[in-house]
Amino acid sequence: MARVKVFDTTLRDGEQSAGVNLNRLEKLEIAKQLERFGVDVMEAGFPASSQEDFEAVKEIAETVRGCSVTGLARAHHRDIDIAWEALKGGAEPRIHIFLATSPIHMTHKLKKTPEEVVETAVEAVAYAKEKFPFVQWSAEDACRSDLDFLVHIIEKVIDAGATVINLPDTVGYTTPDEYGRMFRYVREHVPNIDQVILSAHCHDDLGMAVSNSLSAIEHGARQIEGTINGIGERAGNAALEEIGVALQIRKDRYDFQTNLVLKEIKRTSDLVSRLTGMMVPGNKAVVGRNAFAHESGIHQDGVLKEATTYEIITPSMVGIDSNRMVLGKHSGRHAFKDKAKELGFDLNESKLKEAFESFKNLTGKKKEVTDEDLFAILTDTQTEREDLAKYRMKAFQVQYGSINRPTATVLLTTPDGKEVEKANTGEGSVEAIYNTLDDLIEGDVHLMDYQLSSIGRGRDALAEVHVQLTVDGQKASGRGSAQDVLEASAHAFLNAVNRTLYQKQKVYQKVQV
Ligand code: KIV
Ligand code: ZN
Repeated sequence: MARVKVFDTTLRDGEQSAGVNLNRLEKLEIAKQLERFGVDVMEAGFPASSQEDFEAVKEIAETVRGCSVTGLARAHHRDIDIAWEALKGGAEPRIHIFLATSPIHMTHKLKKTPEEVVETAVEAVAYAKEKFPFVQWSAEDACRSDLDFLVHIIEKVIDAGATVINLPDTVGYTTPDEYGRMFRYVREHVPNIDQVILSAHCHDDLGMAVSNSLSAIEHGARQIEGTINGIGERAGNAALEEIGVALQIRKDRYDFQTNLVLKEIKRTSDLVSRLTGMMVPGNKAVVGRNAFAHESGIHQDGVLKEATTYEIITPSMVGIDSNRMVLGKHSGRHAFKDKAKELGFDLNESKLKEAFESFKNLTGKKKEVTDEDLFAILTDTQTEREDLAKYRMKAFQVQYGSINRPTATVLLTTPDGKEVEKANTGEGSVEAIYNTLDDLIEGDVHLMDYQLSSIGRGRDALAEVHVQLTVDGQKASGRGSAQDVLEASAHAFLNAVNRTLYQKQKVYQKVQV
């Protein structure tokens, strides 16, 4: 069986999804989970794009030892030097340089002739190779490039030292047979192609990213790139969990193997969805809530008689267990610590204490504390920044009903430690609490998006809210969970506001890819 390497770009292309902004601790938590999931390469960010990205990539490279950590760079010395500073402490330092090769990009974006593009690419790869043992070069918009030009430039960058050649479908335009043919053409026409690994990177604008990736594998790609839950720029990237499961379930057809630990899929998907605020649709393949739900009577009857009648993937293969009650109000710190470990969290003493307090609090209110509840408590505690002065909610009260106008009163501590209290009204209870918080916070706040979901099932399930807002034009997303919808809403609002404070402390120029 041929081995296909998995290159995860959740923290780079995935983080480019509209409305996603992960902090350093959230990125690190996702990186540790990707390592458990068994990816071969993880793209931790774009180090030259901002100080924050640089620091996150550096920390991930220095922490993760089980796979290669890479960072994106334009074909400039400055980007390559910064990427080296971020990645040199990694287990297997690797750079990912990209430069567009399609006429449309070369003419309108780069304003370079094809020969200038070849020169720039070769120069950048040769420069990077002086530092990095592994150099991946991507022909951005490869699918709309001239095939013979691609062959020419690929031969030159391989001579300059590239070890991986990636052919991205940057705009999600190609079809499976076209994409496969492009890989075959490149393999048949580039004389030194045997010196490199060919990689596929697909976007999902026409809903074909996973099929295109599988076709590339059949035609010689030995690395596939994608993200967890398929998040990413515009319609997203190829969903890695879908590719991993397709290769496993259809191994009769695809004789390839990856290093992925499929049982980690559920946890990885939940973590990414929770931290990015990108909800997984119920009908999403492999990880959607309904992916294993059989609704029709005929299907249920069939599954009860023999599961394989309608079930091609078993829930346990992707790490879905029934929602067991795990700990209760009599559980002690020790049991809690063990459970946290089992769920993949390695908390320091102060975070453990904090998480245990939240757990105890919850056991007083909720009949059953499930793995999903614990997962929410643990991710929130683990990714909470301790080094930041912020707004904290001390108390709140909301009055509403079918007759009176909803009114909220909130008591907050401000980042400089003062206590402030106000009341305000709104058309609905969430609006009343948000209007009140808005009055208490410095700056002009605009709410752009609000999403409410439940963690697990049942009427006593925790509420989880994700918001996107701007404070004085600065965008941020935030999340909050609590048993009460209004409390979760307030936490999400403050979480987003606190992120803008952090961004203000670290003023940087974000470069867009
Ligand atoms: O889609 C794309 O072309 C990219 C490149 C930066 C590789 O993400
Ligand atoms: Zn991409």
